[in-house]
Amino acid sequence: MKKTSDEFLKEFEELLSQEMSETKCKVEEAMAYSVLTPGKRLRPLLIWSICTDMNVSSEYVWHPALAVELFHTGSLVHDDLPQIDDSPLRRGKPSCHIVFGNDTAILAGDGLMLRAFRVLSESPANPVVKEQLFRCFSRTTYQVLVGEALDVQYTGGDPSLGEVLNMYAKKTGALFSFCFACGPIMSEKFEFVERFSKLGEVFGIWFQILDDVKDTCGDESKLGKPVGKDVALGKPTVTKILGLEKSKIFADKLLKSVVHRLEDFELILTCRLLENLAKR
Ligand code: IPE
Ligand code: IPE
Ligand code: MG
Ligand code: MG
Ligand code: MG
Repeated sequence: MKKTSDEFLKEFEELLSQEMSETKCKVEEAMAYSVLTPGKRLRPLLIWSICTDMNVSSEYVWHPALAVELFHTGSLVHDDLPQIDDSPLRRGKPSCHIVFGNDTAILAGDGLMLRAFRVLSESPANPVVKEQLFRCFSRTTYQVLVGEALDVQYTGGDPSLGEVLNMYAKKTGALFSFCFACGPIMSEKFEFVERFSKLGEVFGIWFQILDDVKDTCGDESKLGKPVGKDVALGKPTVTKILGLEKSKIFADKLLKSVVHRLEDFELILTCRLLENLAKR
């Protein structure tokens, strides 16, 4: 019998705790603190749903799912640093640098990202699949860095809509494109990898626009992170360029286009997951 999403998430948390159970030094404590404070776990959940839709056996899902969450959390630790977004709250708790200091937080972010590659290297997938997974993960994680660097570069400036969307495609879209690509890679339908990657990227742009909307009119206690930071820091966002209402309409169109394409591929579980996300 196939797992439900709740069963997947429960098992995922157990594996993540096991992975982070050895904390021999302060940086490992900081890594465990950051990644075991639960976020939405949306990226692992997407890998699971796409792989389930494509009949990939669950034993292959864990390693990319853990890797993507480790990398993502590392990127958040760096994103919150005083030199970047200067954000004191993450996932409802004090950010890593507030608890452990900036020096340890820089290293903890690096550590989480490096650990992601180690976990992926332990995947039981066959060599061809593993090579594709690594290729995709290396490419997309590097794009996250480029996207975050563009965010820094544009802060306080006046980039065009096209430039901001390109930045979103990288800083946020890239990891989602890895999640979407895991389905065709692990089911060895390599001819679909590029198309799925693109859909993941568009989904990521939708996700980032919604994140910006929540920064404008969300609730700190529900989000577990501060609101109003983007305007205060002069962040380049789609909402700044298009305004709130047009941004929501634009984002809605993006998500609908992704869901339509997924319906064409008969990825029923994933379509339902995306539709539920849109209702939140
Ligand atoms: C936050 O991602 C960073 C963005 C890409 C907007 P999430 O909203 O997925 O954060 P967690 O993992 O749930 O904390
Ligand atoms: C996404 O952007 C950050 C990364 C991709 C690392 P944000 O800066 O908007 O994310 P939050 O709002 O701090 O979660
Ligand atoms: Mg940021
Ligand atoms: Mg931020
Ligand atoms: Mg944000």
